[in-house]
Amino acid sequence: MLFACVHHLLLDEPEHPLAAWYPNLVVGTPRTDDPAPALRQLCAERRDELAALLATRRTQTNEVGRSALFVPVFGLLADEIGPLAHLDVGTSAGLTLLLDRFHYTYEPGGTLGTPGPIRLTCGTRGAVPIPTEMPDAAAHVGLDEAPIDVGDDDAVRWLQACVWPDQADRFHRLRAAVDLARSVGVDVRRGDAVTTTPHLVDELAAVGHPVLTSSFVLTYLTSGARRAFLAVLDDLAAERDLTWVFVEIPAAVPELPVLDAASDQTALVIVRWRSGQRRAQHLAEVHPHGYWIHWNRQEIARQGGAGLV
Ligand SMILES: C[S@@+](CC[C@H](N)C(=O)[O-])C[C@H]1O[C@@H](n2cnc3c(N)ncnc32)[C@H](O)[C@@H]1O
Repeated sequence: MLFACVHHLLLDEPEHPLAAWYPNLVVGTPRTDDPAPALRQLCAERRDELAALLATRRTQTNEVGRSALFVPVFGLLADEIGPLAHLDVGTSAGLTLLLDRFHYTYEPGGTLGTPGPIRLTCGTRGAVPIPTEMPDAAAHVGLDEAPIDVGDDDAVRWLQACVWPDQADRFHRLRAAVDLARSVGVDVRRGDAVTTTPHLVDELAAVGHPVLTSSFVLTYLTSGARRAFLAVLDDLAAERDLTWVFVEIPAAVPELPVLDAASDQTALVIVRWRSGQRRAQHLAEVHPHGYWIHWNRQEIARQGGAGLV
């Protein structure tokens, strides 16, 4: 938090001497000698602001790179079930709602999408089903209990401040995605994953097959809320088919349908409800920020949560 708060101040004052150590803020080569004196100087100069930030902020992120994990799964689903209607639960600023506007290079696997400022590269291992064209979605809607408004400069600065400054590619693509979201708009609604999802699924089912995505969200819910979320999806599936694709660390979300509830390797899991029956598949181990996918699709026999099926 201290480093995020310092970063937040530097984003507002990139001419401060400490910024010379920040790979995302310098043009050219960042300094690599001891930054402690400059850090102490900034902390002394901006002590009150730092204290206020530390007292009031929580870490907040929106990782654009995770889009590279969802695109192959959307391709599978579009082939299987037709037009999709996308609901991203825990969407933060809603940047992954723009996933069909980014450019992807899968290595190996080929390229996909729109050439532009947001270019994601993802290493692949195994038979990752890279689509030949961008899967179509009739709608992209985001849901978050505390959404980030991309029009709010301070909120966006905080989002940027929570990216480690030595991961300059993440930082720059976040900036580019915020610019894109500002120009094309993102449909982000405020609400709770458990209580608001049913209304949004109802709304989206009118335009396509509801596909819910979530990445690093269920880990923020209590154990009871994770079970309740799964039970909500089970209930919704009594009325209609739907699909949920999640990216989480299984050990942090053992109530969900995961292959190995002790695993600390980020998992990409698809849960399909068809004619009221729930079926879950572990699709891959993935990099938490979408830099690689190791495809090793396996059925998940154990059913977490409400225990339907
Ligand atoms: C770590 S961020 C991940 C954001 C985004 N999914 C991504 O991968 O970049 C977790 C997000 O989940 C949201 N969140 C946490 N609990 C929630 C809940 N009960 N309902 C809706 N959103 C929630 C937080 O506000 C935050 O924006």
